[in-house]
Amino acid sequence: MQDIQIAPSILSADFSQLGNEIRGVDAGGADVIHIDVMDGHFVPNITIGPLVVEAARRVTTKVLDVHLMISDPGSYIDGFVDAGADWITVHVEACTHLQRVVSQIKQRNVKAGVVLNPATSLSALDYILEEVDLVMLMSVNPGFGGQSFIPSTLEKIWQLRQRIESLGLDVGIEVDGGISPKTIREVAAVGANIFVAGSAVYYSDDYTATISELRKLAAQGLAERQGV
Ligand code: DX5
Ligand code: ZN
Repeated sequence: MQDIQIAPSILSADFSQLGNEIRGVDAGGADVIHIDVMDGHFVPNITIGPLVVEAARRVTTKVLDVHLMISDPGSYIDGFVDAGADWITVHVEACTHLQRVVSQIKQRNVKAGVVLNPATSLSALDYILEEVDLVMLMSVNPGFGGQSFIPSTLEKIWQLRQRIESLGLDVGIEVDGGISPKTIREVAAVGANIFVAGSAVYYSDDYTATISELRKLAAQGLAERQGV
């Protein structure tokens, strides 16, 4: 969970061509396909459900990273695992019984992640960090693609990286929102290793070139952090 991974978000894909849009980023070198599930309740937008995850599963063998921006996510874990999710991330703000939901995900042999909104403190990870495979920090308020990166996330990523290292945990840090060639190097330099990019990839003319540029800049950021 410490390798650099580039995760295009299909939220900004052309949904009339979804299969080809997923194949395009798969062939273009994506490590992970990020799927944004929104319910019009936890966030002010409605997107997709298990049926679309199941369809995505049929066109790629890459990791399917299912980001649940829904209320009561615990009720939907089985449906998304059955559809083919490899990772499931749930918002701490949406879970009344967070530890129960994380256990539910892990019992299904799927990687479990927790997500924090921009204004949610890292203290929300107390008593759960040791149990998760990854933490995702939102660098925009969830609901829409194409928003600007919120700069205060940088300090938050740094704090989280220090905490994970001091505890000796193998927990990935994923960052979601406003990741582009302009922002990714700095985001990697403070400690993130999994990068969601929706509009930066899907609104570009050449998915392969954009994904490799993002990977190169992330590697530069990582090298800066490691002082090499
Ligand atoms: C926002 C979603 C993101 C979104 C990112 O609620 O969780 O995954 O697709 O889009 P960009 O990369 O355009 O900010
Ligand atoms: Zn997302």
